[in-house]
Amino acid sequence: MTELTAVVHGAAELATATGDLGSDDPAGIVEDGAVAVVDGEIDRVGPTAEVTREYPPENATREIDASGRAVIPGYVDSHTHALFAGDRSDEFEAKLRGTTYGELLASGGGIHRTVRATRAASDEDLLANLIGHLDVMVAHGTTTVEVKSGYGLDTETEFRMIDVIGRADDRHPVDVVPTFMGAHAVPREYEGGDDPGNADDYVDRVVDEQIPAIAAQGIAEFCDVFCDEGAFTVAQSRRVLRAGAERGLTPKVHAEELAHRGGARLAAEVGAASADHLLHATDADVAALVDAGVTPVLLPGTAFGLGADYADARAMVDAGAPVAVATDFNPNCHSQSMGFAAALACVEMGLTPAEALVAGTRNGARALDRAPLGTLREGAPADLVVLNAPSHAHVPYSYGVNRVDAVLKGGEPVAAGGVPLGAARADRDEPDPARTDRAAPASVLDRGGEQ
Ligand code: NIG
Ligand code: FE
Repeated sequence: MTELTAVVHGAAELATATGDLGSDDPAGIVEDGAVAVVDGEIDRVGPTAEVTREYPPENATREIDASGRAVIPGYVDSHTHALFAGDRSDEFEAKLRGTTYGELLASGGGIHRTVRATRAASDEDLLANLIGHLDVMVAHGTTTVEVKSGYGLDTETEFRMIDVIGRADDRHPVDVVPTFMGAHAVPREYEGGDDPGNADDYVDRVVDEQIPAIAAQGIAEFCDVFCDEGAFTVAQSRRVLRAGAERGLTPKVHAEELAHRGGARLAAEVGAASADHLLHATDADVAALVDAGVTPVLLPGTAFGLGADYADARAMVDAGAPVAVATDFNPNCHSQSMGFAAALACVEMGLTPAEALVAGTRNGARALDRAPLGTLREGAPADLVVLNAPSHAHVPYSYGVNRVDAVLKGGEPVAAGGVPLGAARADRDEPDPARTDRAAPASVLDRGGEQ
């Protein structure tokens, strides 16, 4: 029997995120809009009068009166390094004083420091850390997030990371997409000063040990590589991505972040799902990505934290690229907020608020091969966010403030009033009752107990 899971109605603005960037209406706005959810999937989207005639809200398990509020798709954060141990907040100040990211890395800080802390952490501590970050994400409207490994840099810890990412996906309402990133840095034990041969030895480990071990378990979906100055060359990155692809891992590339090294062209060559960062990408790189159907994933929080120049999102959109925006949440870019990323995308990278919305939802799903996720259209998962504001533009306009009220995942409430509901906790098998019992916002009428 099918269930009318939820009817959301009366939204001042339903931003369906179905339009293209650069078009007249990227956000696909429906005024006085409604969404009917059947069995966790969107069954109908349209004007309230039409939708509620066919799907009477009083027949739904959950009725959400969104009057005066905007409803948008749940954010799809398509690039994070959200699983880590340790604290690098002191590096924030060092960077403010002028130390560069490359200098921190070269002196054993940065990624290397997080690798030491992550290797030393227990699985349970790692899981608790990730669950805590997922709680913050869902409170800020993220319903799907990609999380990379890459703070292990040895077979055992890379495997543990991917396993913990999978356990977090099982335990938490946010969908977690696992990406293997053994080629995130050349580990200290392989660094040989000016001898590039040691990096090749590490690439051998990634290709011959890590990828087979992880692919054999079927526990990762993508394979990413840091193709940049101070990390891996194009040739090394190509080896890793080809080895991953041969075992079913779809390529992704950290490209042109610190310097121009050819990672974007490599992403086009191997048919990657995405090329990410692109601070130093050229027009020709962008044209190659567009031709190859690679989604450019831009991470303005990273440029913000590094005090670097931003990627030119406007030029990429004008060149026809389906740009995605993500947080890059990691110890070097410590913000889980897609709303903050959207604000930076508008102010620093030239996107309109409607484009920033599409970049953080529909195009994020594109970077993860998950269309029609990230849109409010028939057949898409009912992952949606009710804002405590009348339009999607209030998200970037209210920079630094969370405008998320209720979050539905598959039509079920998972956050309310900007607070996670019943989120899984790493230290207990059952959801924390204190959280489960937290009152839903006044706009949600839950008939769960009546039926
Ligand atoms: O995407 N650039 C490489 N990796 C991350 C940073 C990871 C770290 O500093 O811990 C990034 O910015
Ligand atoms: Fe990254």
